[in-house]
Amino acid sequence: MAFDVAVIRQQFPILSRDIDGSPLVYLDNAATTHKPQCVIDAISHYYSYSNSNVHRGAHRLADESTKAYEGARDTVARFINANVREEVIWTSGTTESINIVAHGIAQQLNPGDQLLVTEMEHHADLVTWQQACATSGAELKVAPINDNGELNLDQFQTLLCDRTKLVAFPHISNALGTVNPITKMIAMAKAAGALVLIDGAQGIAHGDVDVQSLGCDFYVFSGHKVFAPTGTGVLWGRQSLLESWPVWQTGGEMISTVTYQSAQWNQLPYRLEAGTPHIAGVIGLGAALEWLSRQDLDGMRLHEKALMATATERAEQFEGLRIIGTAKNKLGVLSFLIEGGHPADVGFLLDRQGIAIRTGHHCAEPLMNRLGVPGTARASFSLYNTLDEVDALFDALKKVRLMLA
Ligand SMILES: Cc1ncc(COP(=O)(O)O)c(C=O)c1O
Repeated sequence: MAFDVAVIRQQFPILSRDIDGSPLVYLDNAATTHKPQCVIDAISHYYSYSNSNVHRGAHRLADESTKAYEGARDTVARFINANVREEVIWTSGTTESINIVAHGIAQQLNPGDQLLVTEMEHHADLVTWQQACATSGAELKVAPINDNGELNLDQFQTLLCDRTKLVAFPHISNALGTVNPITKMIAMAKAAGALVLIDGAQGIAHGDVDVQSLGCDFYVFSGHKVFAPTGTGVLWGRQSLLESWPVWQTGGEMISTVTYQSAQWNQLPYRLEAGTPHIAGVIGLGAALEWLSRQDLDGMRLHEKALMATATERAEQFEGLRIIGTAKNKLGVLSFLIEGGHPADVGFLLDRQGIAIRTGHHCAEPLMNRLGVPGTARASFSLYNTLDEVDALFDALKKVRLMLA
């Protein structure tokens, strides 16, 4: 069925609520996305009819739960075109996924080695690597961006060398909306012999991730940013790398045999998944990606581009508004400042009118310092947003400006 935003919206119950009499205009999708009814139903169905632990029980409920839980792994593997389902590791989100990778490669790092990130990193993909450097003696290099918020590819290239062990960067910047040329960047990093991790937290919801054709080593994302429950996430990694690592956490599920003195580790994916997992959440994540796969993804992308283009045009014409992040290729995020207004006040005054945005440094404090701003007001769009909502944002901003005057 062709993409129809009205039909999409009907599937998200929360979108029909109001905020003190004003219809909710939810433009905080980079923070978290809403859940379609089918995801809510999948979670409710699990708790109502088959609630049980997975992999262990000898009874019908355990069997049903395990099938639904492992079925979600197949769905994720298909969605990102993983080589094999064993490469899909469940985590609690992007943050945990990056931490597992850092733990995995930490003992292969030596003083003199280098890790390379970019100036547009989310704290999850910056602080984790700072820590990996602190414990291993490796050095953290940071590839610069220009004032538009685009990576300087020449300097990125210059920073790559035979000491670069891993390169990590976001698919899409959560603070600026910059879509990075990840295929090119991956090829450059691989040519230098480095491992590559893509922080896909903001990229995954746009539905065109193919990890095999990308050629990266790790692609990580959070369920809650792609219409699934919080507390779920994915670490996709190359099987040979995941198998070579020390285990992340120990306990049930990740072992094959145990004596009082020692233990043998289970196969992938279980060797990196200790303890009872977030079963309902994983089932919800599977339902979310099944749902997204059924949509007209080309139509969705056109719609999302139209939202971005219209919002940018309106912002450019809005007196006293400064867009923060003017990369040529942007998606989903419009960061801005209003003359004479602190972003927190702008956010507060928009909320009074039913408009939900985020304000602050967006977990990218060094990026804000690099750009010389205290933070920004950030409107972020998802497939269920409408052009009318973009209008509503700018109509409300006119009132904000009057209130701030
Ligand atoms: C680009 C990026 N990376 C990492 C994260 C961390 O995600 P989570 O808090 O779900 O682990 C976020 C969340 O906003 C993000 O936008």
